[in-house]
Amino acid sequence: MLKKLCVFLIAGVMMVSLAACSSNNDEQSGQEKEAVVEQEEKKEETTAENQDSTKSLVVYFSYSGNTEKVAQLIAQGTNSDIFEIVPEKAYPEDYDECVDLASEEKAANVRPAIKNDVENIDQYDTIYVGYPCWWGTSPMVIFTFLESHDFSGKTIIPFTTHGGSGFGSSISDISNVVKGATVNEDGLSIQDSNVDNCEGIVSDWLESLK
Ligand SMILES: Cc1cc2nc3c(=O)[nH]c(=O)nc-3n(C[C@H](O)[C@H](O)[C@H](O)COP(=O)(O)O)c2cc1C
Repeated sequence: MLKKLCVFLIAGVMMVSLAACSSNNDEQSGQEKEAVVEQEEKKEETTAENQDSTKSLVVYFSYSGNTEKVAQLIAQGTNSDIFEIVPEKAYPEDYDECVDLASEEKAANVRPAIKNDVENIDQYDTIYVGYPCWWGTSPMVIFTFLESHDFSGKTIIPFTTHGGSGFGSSISDISNVVKGATVNEDGLSIQDSNVDNCEGIVSDWLESLK
Protein backbone atom coordinates (compact mmCIF):
# COMPACT_ATOMS: atom_id res chain seq x y z
CA MET A 1 0.00 0.00 0.00
CA LEU A 2 2.82 2.36 1.02
CA LYS A 3 4.64 1.38 -2.16
CA LYS A 4 1.58 2.30 -4.27
CA LEU A 5 1.24 5.63 -2.47
CA CYS A 6 4.92 6.37 -3.17
CA VAL A 7 4.46 5.57 -6.88
CA PHE A 8 1.46 7.94 -7.08
CA LEU A 9 3.40 10.67 -5.26
CA ILE A 10 6.41 10.37 -7.59
CA ALA A 11 4.12 10.36 -10.64
CA GLY A 12 2.36 13.48 -9.33
CA VAL A 13 5.62 15.33 -8.73
CA MET A 14 6.81 14.40 -12.23
CA MET A 15 3.57 15.67 -13.84
CA VAL A 16 3.77 19.01 -11.99
CA SER A 17 7.40 19.57 -12.98
CA LEU A 18 6.67 18.59 -16.61
CA ALA A 19 3.81 21.13 -16.74
CA ALA A 20 6.09 23.84 -15.27
CA CYS A 21 8.75 22.99 -17.79
CA SER A 22 6.36 23.21 -20.73
CA SER A 23 4.99 26.56 -19.55
CA ASN A 24 8.61 27.77 -19.29
CA ASN A 25 9.15 26.63 -22.87
CA ASP A 26 6.03 28.53 -23.96
CA GLU A 27 7.34 31.68 -22.28
CA GLN A 28 10.73 31.19 -23.87
CA SER A 29 9.34 30.70 -27.37
CA GLY A 30 7.14 33.78 -26.85
CA GLN A 31 10.24 35.78 -25.92
CA GLU A 32 12.12 34.41 -28.91
CA LYS A 33 9.28 35.45 -31.22
CA GLU A 34 9.31 38.98 -29.74
CA ALA A 35 13.07 39.20 -30.26
CA VAL A 36 12.70 38.18 -33.93
CA VAL A 37 9.94 40.76 -34.48
CA GLU A 38 12.11 43.42 -32.80
CA GLN A 39 15.05 42.50 -35.04
CA GLU A 40 12.85 42.71 -38.16
CA GLU A 41 11.56 46.12 -37.08
CA LYS A 42 15.12 47.38 -36.53
CA LYS A 43 16.09 46.09 -40.00
CA GLU A 44 13.16 47.96 -41.57
CA GLU A 45 14.10 51.17 -39.72
CA THR A 46 17.71 50.92 -40.92
CA THR A 47 16.57 50.39 -44.52
CA ALA A 48 14.30 53.44 -44.27
CA GLU A 49 17.19 55.48 -42.83
CA ASN A 50 19.42 54.37 -45.73
CA GLN A 51 16.76 55.40 -48.21
CA ASP A 52 16.53 58.76 -46.43
CA SER A 53 20.26 59.27 -46.74
CA THR A 54 20.01 59.12 -50.55
CA LYS A 55 16.95 61.31 -50.65
CA SER A 56 16.47 63.86 -53.38
CA LEU A 57 15.72 67.53 -52.85
CA VAL A 58 13.37 69.93 -54.59
CA VAL A 59 14.66 73.52 -54.47
CA TYR A 60 12.52 76.30 -55.89
CA PHE A 61 11.88 79.99 -56.10
CA SER A 62 8.38 81.21 -56.92
CA TYR A 63 7.10 84.77 -57.15
CA SER A 64 3.38 84.19 -57.67
CA GLY A 65 2.87 80.54 -56.70
CA ASN A 66 2.95 78.63 -60.01
CA THR A 67 6.39 77.12 -59.58
CA GLU A 68 5.61 76.42 -55.95
CA LYS A 69 2.68 74.23 -56.93
CA VAL A 70 4.80 72.23 -59.37
CA ALA A 71 7.58 71.94 -56.77
CA GLN A 72 5.15 70.46 -54.25
CA LEU A 73 3.88 67.90 -56.77
CA ILE A 74 7.43 66.84 -57.64
CA ALA A 75 8.36 66.55 -53.97
CA GLN A 76 5.27 64.41 -53.29
CA GLY A 77 5.84 62.24 -56.36
CA THR A 78 9.49 61.58 -55.56
CA ASN A 79 9.33 61.59 -51.78
CA SER A 80 11.89 64.41 -51.82
CA ASP A 81 12.63 67.05 -49.27
CA ILE A 82 11.60 70.51 -50.36
CA PHE A 83 13.28 73.89 -49.92
CA GLU A 84 11.99 77.31 -50.93
CA ILE A 85 14.59 79.94 -51.81
CA VAL A 86 13.52 83.14 -50.05
CA PRO A 87 15.29 86.29 -51.23
CA GLU A 88 16.47 88.55 -48.42
CA LYS A 89 14.61 91.44 -50.05
CA ALA A 90 11.18 90.37 -51.25
CA TYR A 91 10.29 91.26 -54.84
CA PRO A 92 7.70 94.05 -55.21
CA GLU A 93 4.12 92.86 -55.07
CA ASP A 94 3.29 95.11 -57.99
CA TYR A 95 3.78 92.95 -61.11
CA ASP A 96 5.17 95.72 -63.35
CA GLU A 97 7.60 96.85 -60.67
CA CYS A 98 8.76 93.26 -60.29
CA VAL A 99 9.20 92.91 -64.05
CA ASP A 100 11.31 96.09 -64.15
CA LEU A 101 13.45 95.06 -61.18
CA ALA A 102 14.02 91.62 -62.66
CA SER A 103 15.10 93.23 -65.92
CA GLU A 104 17.59 95.48 -64.08
CA GLU A 105 18.94 92.53 -62.11
CA LYS A 106 19.47 90.53 -65.26
CA ALA A 107 21.17 93.42 -67.07
CA ALA A 108 23.55 93.95 -64.13
CA ASN A 109 23.97 90.18 -63.60
CA VAL A 110 23.45 90.69 -59.87
CA ARG A 111 23.26 87.95 -57.22
CA PRO A 112 20.40 88.88 -54.87
CA ALA A 113 21.04 87.71 -51.30
CA ILE A 114 19.10 84.73 -49.94
CA LYS A 115 17.52 84.71 -46.48
CA ASN A 116 17.70 80.95 -45.80
CA ASP A 117 19.82 77.92 -46.68
CA VAL A 118 19.48 74.17 -47.21
CA GLU A 119 20.69 72.05 -44.32
CA ASN A 120 23.40 69.61 -45.31
CA ILE A 121 23.03 69.67 -49.08
CA ASP A 122 25.70 66.93 -49.30
CA GLN A 123 23.09 64.31 -48.41
CA TYR A 124 21.30 64.81 -51.75
CA ASP A 125 22.44 63.21 -55.02
CA THR A 126 19.57 64.48 -57.13
CA ILE A 127 18.32 68.03 -56.89
CA TYR A 128 15.27 69.31 -58.76
CA VAL A 129 15.67 73.06 -59.29
CA GLY A 130 12.54 75.05 -60.09
CA TYR A 131 11.91 78.67 -61.04
CA PRO A 132 9.67 80.88 -63.16
CA CYS A 133 11.12 81.95 -66.47
CA TRP A 134 12.15 85.61 -66.05
CA TRP A 135 13.35 87.54 -69.04
CA GLY A 136 14.17 84.40 -70.96
CA THR A 137 16.19 82.70 -68.20
CA SER A 138 15.94 81.90 -64.50
CA PRO A 139 15.67 84.68 -61.89
CA MET A 140 19.12 85.86 -60.75
CA VAL A 141 18.43 84.54 -57.24
CA ILE A 142 18.65 81.00 -58.63
CA PHE A 143 22.23 81.71 -59.67
CA THR A 144 22.94 83.07 -56.15
CA PHE A 145 21.80 79.73 -54.78
CA LEU A 146 23.63 77.57 -57.31
CA GLU A 147 26.89 79.47 -56.93
CA SER A 148 26.88 79.17 -53.17
CA HIS A 149 26.98 75.35 -53.10
CA ASP A 150 29.17 72.62 -54.51
CA PHE A 151 27.11 70.43 -56.83
CA SER A 152 29.94 68.36 -58.26
CA GLY A 153 28.90 64.73 -58.73
CA LYS A 154 25.22 65.59 -58.31
CA THR A 155 22.39 65.50 -60.83
CA ILE A 156 20.43 68.71 -61.32
CA ILE A 157 16.98 68.41 -62.88
CA PRO A 158 15.52 71.80 -63.83
CA PHE A 159 11.83 72.61 -64.01
CA THR A 160 10.16 75.87 -64.87
CA THR A 161 6.83 77.59 -65.30
CA HIS A 162 6.56 80.33 -67.89
CA GLY A 163 4.29 82.52 -69.99
CA GLY A 164 5.39 81.11 -73.35
CA SER A 165 9.21 81.08 -73.44
CA GLY A 166 9.68 77.63 -71.93
CA PHE A 167 13.14 77.30 -70.39
CA GLY A 168 14.57 80.11 -72.53
CA SER A 169 18.33 79.92 -72.08
CA SER A 170 18.09 78.82 -68.44
CA ILE A 171 19.30 75.24 -68.86
CA SER A 172 22.58 76.25 -70.46
CA ASP A 173 22.90 79.22 -68.08
CA ILE A 174 22.52 76.84 -65.14
CA SER A 175 24.97 74.33 -66.65
CA ASN A 176 27.57 77.10 -66.77
CA VAL A 177 27.42 77.68 -63.03
CA VAL A 178 27.17 74.14 -61.66
CA LYS A 179 30.52 72.83 -62.78
CA GLY A 180 31.00 69.12 -62.18
CA ALA A 181 27.26 68.42 -61.93
CA THR A 182 25.17 66.63 -64.52
CA VAL A 183 22.32 68.83 -65.68
CA ASN A 184 19.41 66.82 -67.01
CA GLU A 185 18.20 68.52 -70.18
CA ASP A 186 14.81 66.80 -70.15
CA GLY A 187 13.54 69.15 -67.51
CA LEU A 188 9.89 69.96 -67.06
CA SER A 189 8.46 73.19 -68.44
CA ILE A 190 4.83 74.09 -67.85
CA GLN A 191 3.04 77.13 -69.22
CA ASP A 192 1.45 79.25 -66.48
CA SER A 193 -2.04 78.76 -67.95
CA ASN A 194 -1.66 74.98 -67.44
CA VAL A 195 -0.42 75.04 -63.87
CA ASP A 196 -3.87 74.74 -62.28
CA ASN A 197 -4.39 71.30 -63.81
CA CYS A 198 -0.86 70.03 -64.13
CA GLU A 199 -0.98 66.95 -61.86
CA GLY A 200 -1.03 64.55 -64.84
CA ILE A 201 1.74 66.43 -66.68
CA VAL A 202 3.96 66.21 -63.59
CA SER A 203 3.32 62.54 -62.91
CA ASP A 204 3.86 61.58 -66.59
CA TRP A 205 7.12 63.50 -66.58
CA LEU A 206 8.28 61.82 -63.36
CA GLU A 207 7.42 58.45 -64.91
CA SER A 208 9.50 59.34 -68.00
CA LEU A 209 12.54 60.05 -65.81
CA LYS A 210 12.55 56.52 -64.36
C1 LIG B 1 9.66 89.43 -63.66
C2 LIG B 1 8.96 88.49 -64.59
C3 LIG B 1 9.53 88.18 -65.80
C4 LIG B 1 8.92 87.24 -66.64
N1 LIG B 1 9.53 86.92 -67.82
C5 LIG B 1 8.99 85.95 -68.59
C6 LIG B 1 9.64 85.56 -69.80
O1 LIG B 1 10.68 86.07 -70.19
N2 LIG B 1 9.07 84.57 -70.52
C7 LIG B 1 7.92 83.96 -70.13
O2 LIG B 1 7.47 83.05 -70.82
N3 LIG B 1 7.28 84.31 -68.99
C8 LIG B 1 7.79 85.29 -68.22
N4 LIG B 1 7.15 85.65 -67.06
C9 LIG B 1 5.93 84.91 -66.65
C10 LIG B 1 6.27 83.84 -65.60
O3 LIG B 1 7.38 83.08 -65.99
C11 LIG B 1 5.13 82.87 -65.37
O4 LIG B 1 3.93 83.53 -65.11
C12 LIG B 1 5.43 81.90 -64.24
O5 LIG B 1 4.52 80.83 -64.27
C13 LIG B 1 5.34 82.55 -62.86
O6 LIG B 1 5.76 81.60 -61.91
P1 LIG B 1 5.66 81.86 -60.34
O7 LIG B 1 4.18 81.98 -60.03
O8 LIG B 1 6.26 80.65 -59.73
O9 LIG B 1 6.39 83.09 -60.03
C14 LIG B 1 7.72 86.62 -66.25
C15 LIG B 1 7.12 86.99 -65.04
C16 LIG B 1 7.74 87.92 -64.22
C17 LIG B 1 7.11 88.29 -62.90
